[in-house]
Amino acid sequence: MNVLVVGANGQIGSIFLEKIKSNTNFEATAMIRDHNQSKKFKDLGIPTLIANLEWEVDELEKIIGGFDAIIFTAGSGGSTGSDKTLLIDLDGAVKMMEVAEKNNIHRFVMVSALGANSRKRWNDALRPYYVAKHYADVILSQTNLEYTIVRPGRLLNEKGTGKVEVSSKLERSSIPREDVADVLIEVLNNQNTIRKSFDLVSGKKTISEALQNI
Ligand SMILES: NC(=O)c1ccc[n+]([C@@H]2O[C@H](COP(=O)([O-])OP(=O)(O)OC[C@H]3O[C@@H](n4cnc5c(N)ncnc54)[C@H](OP(=O)(O)O)[C@@H]3O)[C@@H](O)[C@H]2O)c1
Repeated sequence: MNVLVVGANGQIGSIFLEKIKSNTNFEATAMIRDHNQSKKFKDLGIPTLIANLEWEVDELEKIIGGFDAIIFTAGSGGSTGSDKTLLIDLDGAVKMMEVAEKNNIHRFVMVSALGANSRKRWNDALRPYYVAKHYADVILSQTNLEYTIVRPGRLLNEKGTGKVEVSSKLERSSIPREDVADVLIEVLNNQNTIRKSFDLVSGKKTISEALQNI
């Protein structure tokens, strides 16, 4: 499977690519927005594609093709304002869905956020962020793409435990980014995850057990 990672230079994206590069089931390309970021991927033997989610969708369509799957793990981050959240987490995501549909990239895996599917769970400080995540997920679920929406809890930079909990609604909790990256790999391997959405936190089940019965 040939996978494009959008947000490749980010924390989950980088861990995912490091893991997937030695997996013979996959070839992966890192989508980055700055030439200066390419060295780290070159050193890992991972091809790069330079593109910015703020570009026009037809520009993106011209250069993004030949992939079987997109992992969308980009985000504007906490240091920018709500305008960038809308432009990246919502419109950037939707542009990539349009690119995928236009260029026959059938599989689309979205890294969303725990609780994004329920307005009652959005706190005031992060409301615009949840709005962006929510509507990106809603729009993805209305496409014909073979989507999976993964909604992790608070992300930690700790070593993964390999043990997770997955459900349509989970209490707020956390999960190491490494475990999220492993879940993304398992999602690509597991047809049962197609057209499914779930919250994800650390738990007691192995990743393959947790994803078996969603
Ligand atoms: N933090 C949490 O606790 C939490 C919880 C649940 C879900 N999430 C979500 O999980 C996802 C991944 O998290 P993370 O910590 O790995 O994120 P991250 O390290 O902030 O990575 C985000 C990536 O998005 C890229 N990006 C931003 N604007 C872009 C643009 N205009 N064009 C192309 N790429 C762009 C960034 O590029 P540069 O490297 O060039 O800046 C970066 O590589 C995010 O969507 C986040 O919202 C976070």
